[in-house]
Amino acid sequence: MTSRIETTSARESLWLDGPDAPSYPALADDLEVDVVVLGGGITGLTTALLCQLDGARVAVLEAERVAGGVTSCTTAKATALQATVYSTIRSRHGAAATQAYAAASLAAVERIAELTAANDIDCDLLRRPAFTYAAEESERAAVTREHAAAKEAGLDATLVDSPDLPFPTFGAIRLDDQLEVHPVRYVRGLAGALDDGSSVYENTRAIELSEGSRRTVQTSTGASVRAEHVVVATHYPVFDRGGYFARLEPKRSYCIAVRLASGTPPRGMSISAGDNTRSVRSYGDLLIIGGEGHDTGSDQAQPERYAQLETFAREHWDVAEVTHRWSAQDPVPYDHLPFVGPYLPTSKGLWVATGFMKWGITGGTFAAMMLADAIAGRESPWAATFTPTRLSLRSTPKIAQLGVKYTGNVIGDRLYPGDERDVADLGTGEGCVLRTAAGKSAVFRDDAGVLHAVSARCTHLGCDVQFNAAERSWDCPCHGSRFDVDGAVLEGPAVDPLEPHDVD
Ligand code: FES
Repeated sequence: MTSRIETTSARESLWLDGPDAPSYPALADDLEVDVVVLGGGITGLTTALLCQLDGARVAVLEAERVAGGVTSCTTAKATALQATVYSTIRSRHGAAATQAYAAASLAAVERIAELTAANDIDCDLLRRPAFTYAAEESERAAVTREHAAAKEAGLDATLVDSPDLPFPTFGAIRLDDQLEVHPVRYVRGLAGALDDGSSVYENTRAIELSEGSRRTVQTSTGASVRAEHVVVATHYPVFDRGGYFARLEPKRSYCIAVRLASGTPPRGMSISAGDNTRSVRSYGDLLIIGGEGHDTGSDQAQPERYAQLETFAREHWDVAEVTHRWSAQDPVPYDHLPFVGPYLPTSKGLWVATGFMKWGITGGTFAAMMLADAIAGRESPWAATFTPTRLSLRSTPKIAQLGVKYTGNVIGDRLYPGDERDVADLGTGEGCVLRTAAGKSAVFRDDAGVLHAVSARCTHLGCDVQFNAAERSWDCPCHGSRFDVDGAVLEGPAVDPLEPHDVD
């Protein structure tokens, strides 16, 4: 009943397919440092290295493996041209914020190149042009609008007839000299560049934070770290203070890598401007396609998401085989700007970075640059734009909408008793929420016919989880927590597992 199965998410990522990484020990003894960074992804490791360069002693605490979280689930484009981000930010925040976003993104691209060179990181870094293209005639206006906003923001972007793609498009924006990277090798390289005064600890989850002039982070190993500065770089902020869950909307998206039978993949990095996103880049002789995004916990989480990407690839290239498939979850801020800065309005020495809107390689890097500046006492020109304490009046209806969604889900869940299906009728690979003697149970039957049953009540704030058929997980539609079929937390904000149910 409790045997675990693999989900089909990050474990099949192209970026995790390779030799085992050097491992780091779990935290065994109490420690005192200047800065403790929670999260061993691109944001955390970049922050750690930049703080070390400022002379700080840093400890990085990673709940699992370095670069094994969302950093391993991206398409790994480091670019200041990001679909239609500038027209979106321009409409919500005005020209100054758009310029700050462009400057921060351009600086991040160059910082990645600098850190790679300075630390001799072997991460297949290549300069590439980035494109935002109109896949349909109806997307042409969005491309034109984005080009104007990007130019106003300070990007040296040009309008071109077509990107580097083997099918007709309806105009594109081009920005040269951006970067493609192997994200896992890059982040492991950052970790390897930390020297004796600083250290990385894996399988060490931060579980509690106590305040004071120096903060103490209690960890899952029983040991703790005291530090003047705590950086929360856990993708979705741990500790769940500051109401971040109410300001971030979790989105899922999917990626495949394919090997071509003939021809070569494009050398440009492209993304379509419309809602039906298609993101394209190459990695060696592999072609990577991303897209098919949807809200976390929606019934669109079906295996067809991968099939749609494969169909797109086969329509336009001579595909020999799909070599990898993986997915990502990204928290998108209610007002479409990342949150980078003090964790709470009154925080001194407690910092957060989150909400990179699916552009985490670039956003995570500029966030790290800003946090390192703040910790060293330097002013960042972008701090006011990204401060988590901002209130965007133009976007407050979105907060209300997210709140209504949560309230509606909770009320709906309480009224909905669960499917009346019999457990015996559940086929292999199927999952559903059933009314059982234990209450509402989230029940899944694996390929061997074994039932996995857990409580359907999300341990964050009590919405009912939904079955994600694409990845065989239980996903919460309220704030995006995800659990495996045995209840273990895959994504926060939940920190506690779903309790086991006995449905035999
Ligand atoms: S993630 Fe908030 S209730 Fe589930």
